[in-house]
Amino acid sequence: MSTQEKKEIREILISRIIKSEDLNHHGTLFAGRMAEWLVEACLISTIDLLRKPEDIVCARIHGMNFHKSSTTGDIIEIKSRIAHLGEKSLTVDAKVFVNGKDDTPSVTGMVTFVTVDKKGIPYAHGMTLSPGYIEENRLIYLAALEARKHR
Ligand SMILES: CC(C)(COP(=O)(O)OP(=O)(O)OC[C@H]1O[C@@H](n2cnc3c(N)ncnc32)[C@H](O)[C@@H]1OP(=O)(O)O)[C@@H](O)C(=O)NCCC(=O)NCCS
Repeated sequence: MSTQEKKEIREILISRIIKSEDLNHHGTLFAGRMAEWLVEACLISTIDLLRKPEDIVCARIHGMNFHKSSTTGDIIEIKSRIAHLGEKSLTVDAKVFVNGKDDTPSVTGMVTFVTVDKKGIPYAHGMTLSPGYIEENRLIYLAALEARKHR
């Protein structure tokens, strides 16, 4: 049995209220702020799994798409979930929903992290995904596999 099969991977859900300081010059949510929140949500997914925040660095923010804008007073929910585990990497999928409308995400993205030792050298984290988890999360798993081809 792999290490991962003993540990449940859960979805991380973070809610935020958009404030005036989060807006751009169009009066909508600033992309850089959204990117910060999305990366943070994805990072939390990796820490939730590994419990070693000091060993995790971000290697790549990829596949980030802004489908719909949002503005001040909107409540956004960021749902992040492990999409793929490599030998030394972890790729996390995130979807953002606005005001409880969870049919179509307003923003989507993926972030890849790498486990590193104190000298910054990548090391194998020893985690794998169970076949059941891969089956349940097939779409994001395949998207992460596809992204690995385009490094
Ligand atoms: C990320 C970093 C550790 C990768 O180092 P590296 O020597 O290129 O890593 P390796 O070639 O040994 O690859 C290790 C894993 O990382 C993955 N990886 C490395 N760079 C990547 C990238 N740009 N995008 C996606 N995956 C990447 C590899 O595919 C490999 O995955 P696998 O084990 O699942 O096969 C290094 O580039 C680094 O320290 N970057 C700066 C990190 C940083 O400052 N981030 C911002 C603040 S947290």
